[in-house]
Amino acid sequence: MKPVNIGILGLGTVGGGTVEVLRRNAAEISRRLGREVKVAAVSTRDAQKARALCGADTLITDDPFEVVRHEGIDIVAELFGGTEIAKDLVLEAIENGKHVVTANKKLLAEYGNEIFARAEAKNVMVQFEAAVAGGIPIIKALREGLAANNIRSIAGIINGTSNFILSEMREKGSAFADVLKEAQALGYAEADPTFDIEGHDAGHKITIMSALAFGTPVNFAACYLEGISRLDSRDIKYAEELGYRIKLLGITRKTEKGIELRVHPTLVPECRLIANVNGVMNAVRVQADMVGETLYYGPGAGALPTASAVVADIVDICRLMDAGVQNRVPYLAFHPQGVQPLTMLPMDEITSSYYLRVQAEDKPGVLGNIASLLAKQEISIEALIQKGVIDGSKAEIVILTHSTVEKQMKAAIAEVEALASVSEPVVMIRMEALNG
Ligand code: HSE
Repeated sequence: MKPVNIGILGLGTVGGGTVEVLRRNAAEISRRLGREVKVAAVSTRDAQKARALCGADTLITDDPFEVVRHEGIDIVAELFGGTEIAKDLVLEAIENGKHVVTANKKLLAEYGNEIFARAEAKNVMVQFEAAVAGGIPIIKALREGLAANNIRSIAGIINGTSNFILSEMREKGSAFADVLKEAQALGYAEADPTFDIEGHDAGHKITIMSALAFGTPVNFAACYLEGISRLDSRDIKYAEELGYRIKLLGITRKTEKGIELRVHPTLVPECRLIANVNGVMNAVRVQADMVGETLYYGPGAGALPTASAVVADIVDICRLMDAGVQNRVPYLAFHPQGVQPLTMLPMDEITSSYYLRVQAEDKPGVLGNIASLLAKQEISIEALIQKGVIDGSKAEIVILTHSTVEKQMKAAIAEVEALASVSEPVVMIRMEALNG
């Protein structure tokens, strides 16, 4: 059989890793496929690096459009990242009848609907395993492995940089800003780390998983984003004393009222496996009606783990490129006619439990007032402890609540903050039992 020709756009961490995986495991990949996978073209500004990595017959160009227009290319691997040029390149590759593999979560979370519609019209495949949780085959699990199920919810640690920072803050009691500097020095966080620490990266990933889980168009605009930059290491310590870890979770859940889609720091009971995923590792927990709970763990970034996912997509496409469209796995896991816009819940309507830290005067009646304001909003208290006294007169009170609707919690907090005895804004962190 003739080789499958790949055109690679971008030779950074993931692009370089992809060439390396295809080279190092060439024999095993051919053995799986019964044909050779050849890097036929590479677009990069670093021709020297490309020449060192690729064979003498690989076309090397600094013009990515030359690759997507090249007649001999069967599959384009878009590994540039970003959205502007990447979107144009992916759409042009599709128009030219090429299958596409991309690791670009931002592109798919923001423009996935348009890209999938064009791909469907042109009868080509767009695969994106590497876009979510790097080397973990979670897209495959959601689209294929769990196809017998109604998926109920997904909760994932899907940003390694944030997880590294939270793990270090917990283990060393360090402040957020100090650990961020350490993460940057280790090369985990970007020079501008906003994307990682303010939840955007996790938001793109949970948006894609939500669409696949529930058969609904990607809708990044509906995703609530709250990062970890305002977390105080005191709250990590108090949470730990109460038997919880704080993780940046991407959460999506199907409820009777609609779909919850959110990223925020979350208290998780320390007995849950996901609470013990530390450092830069990722993990995704899926709750589904027939199988129950499944958990997927592994490296969420890095050259070879991410390239492992890119190359698996290339292998999938090679196996299916001659199959009729009805024999392929649909982009969003559901038949295009079965993909439905679903109600996306605003944050005020989501249901969660909460951790509250209140700074108040240390005198009789203060706790009682706070408890009755929570009761007025029908919020039930699970645990309440008074921490040390600050400046001789102020107490820190930590409260864990049972599940309630967020708007009721916000109303209660507004009333607590209005009390004369409460001197600082209330710290609120959401809490998930993850017990089914
Ligand atoms: N920047 C991401 C992370 C990796 O820290 O997990 C790529 O998605």
